[in-house]
Amino acid sequence: MDERIDAQEAEAEALPLQHLKEVPAWLYLLGEFETLYRYGSAGGSGLIRSHRKRVRDTLSAIVAENPPIVAREEMRKPVTAYLSRALDTGERGAMQGMSQALREVRNDLTWEYGYDRMPKALARKYAYCEVLGPSGPVQSGKLILGFVLFAPATTYPQHSHRGIEESYISVSGAWSENDAAVYAPGSMILNKPGDEHRITTGEREPCLLAYAWTGNAENLAAPGMKLTPPRRRRTGNAAP
Ligand SMILES: [Fe+2]
Repeated sequence: MDERIDAQEAEAEALPLQHLKEVPAWLYLLGEFETLYRYGSAGGSGLIRSHRKRVRDTLSAIVAENPPIVAREEMRKPVTAYLSRALDTGERGAMQGMSQALREVRNDLTWEYGYDRMPKALARKYAYCEVLGPSGPVQSGKLILGFVLFAPATTYPQHSHRGIEESYISVSGAWSENDAAVYAPGSMILNKPGDEHRITTGEREPCLLAYAWTGNAENLAAPGMKLTPPRRRRTGNAAP
């Protein structure tokens, strides 16, 4: 055996597992989520107020426990070519702090699809990454936080989440849910478990949303996700 390889392996094994408070970039990114869920407005909605409280209380408890950071492989998708533009735009608007904090970890993100069978057109225009959850990078079974990125002029087909309550916060770009309104950076949408939702994004700019999922540990570990295009129904794994 090569002694150098022995030494490298021994060094790797000796590396202590990192925890949240030793990795400022992840700590400050979660701090941005906590600020949004603590100080933003619920717009007078009791349901949104209680969701916001659930997210921030759970997140505060997780941060206090100083959870481990799980090393995940960096993964990109075609849509991540739009991330720089989304962050540049985000840094000029109401979500400046979140955009700057996300830029700090942009090379450590694992962008995924989450569906067993991805519609081809969507594979070029959409991906999500988790920043906190059962599979890391900040590990917790009690809450999932992440981001979803859309190319300009994307339709994210109708879907729902079993046993998961979901909020989206607009970071950059304009989007609409269920053709109900146009949302700008700083806006929050609440989707209760099972609520069907379909997203469209503006024609010229990419759209970046932060999201939070609350639910019991079992549902967060294996979220049932239904993509429900017209006339066909597909079952997926875990995507916002
Ligand atoms: Fe969703």
